Formats: sequence, structure tokens, C-alpha cells
Amino acid sequence: LTPPQEGSADGAGVAKDKLGHPIPAAQLLAEPPGTRALVAGLAGEPTYLTVTETGSLDPMGIVDNCTHLGCTFPWNPNTQEFQCPCHGSRYAADGSVLRGPAPLPLKLTRVEVRDGLIWLSPWLDLDPRTGKQPWWV
Ligand code: FES
Repeated sequence: LTPPQEGSADGAGVAKDKLGHPIPAAQLLAEPPGTRALVAGLAGEPTYLTVTETGSLDPMGIVDNCTHLGCTFPWNPNTQEFQCPCHGSRYAADGSVLRGPAPLPLKLTRVEVRDGLIWLSPWLDLDPRTGKQPWWV
């Protein structure tokens, strides 16, 4: 087994905890469906990972960085929204804007489980929420 590499050729990296340790996929998959786990993602960007109803990890990671002025925000499980505390923007579970002033949907990161770890890589495909080229590419 080779140790997880930081910054492989495709810009991929493993999801880490606050202390910088790789998070085993099994640890998140033991959480109930609907769990949003905040991890240190690509370039240390805080990123929400979602445990799906079928007990897998959603391939869409949601970057915790408000597209208004960059605040971080919590997930509200009661309303099923991300709610930015700075100026009141709200985002749906998939990161699309429900209420401004946020001008753009939240940035996505691709999520994949490989060798028991959670691999993240840049989302370069069309943005599934808009059907267009992602604004961050
Ligand atoms: Fe989130 Fe302004 S930074 S609403």
C-alpha cells in the first residue's frame, strides 16, 4: 500500500480531519443517512460530505464557502438548507441558491471512496444544478 499522496496529477487528495489525518470512509459511512460531515478538502477547503439514503457517500461534495463574501456556514437539518450567518443567504442541499445575496451556487468537489479512503478531486464536468460549465473552472 502506498500512503495517500497530497496533490496527485489530477489534483486529487484525501479528505482529512481537523488534525490533518485522513478520514477512513467507514467512519463517515457509519453515520446515519442524511449526515453532513465537514472535512478538510482540497487545498484544505472545508467541504461538506453527505451520507446518502442508501448509505454511500454522495459524489457531490459541497465547499463550505459562501459565494457572497466567503463566510462559512452550517447545515440546518430541520430545514434541509445551508444557512449563511453573515447576510442570510440560503442554499438547498445540492448547493443551489434559495435566497440571496449569494449570486452563485456553491462550489462542488468530486467525492469517491477508494482503498477505504475518501478521495476528493476538482469538479470539472458540467454543473448538474445549472447544466452549464461550472463558474469555478
Ligand atoms: Fe454568506 Fe454574505 S457571506 S451571505
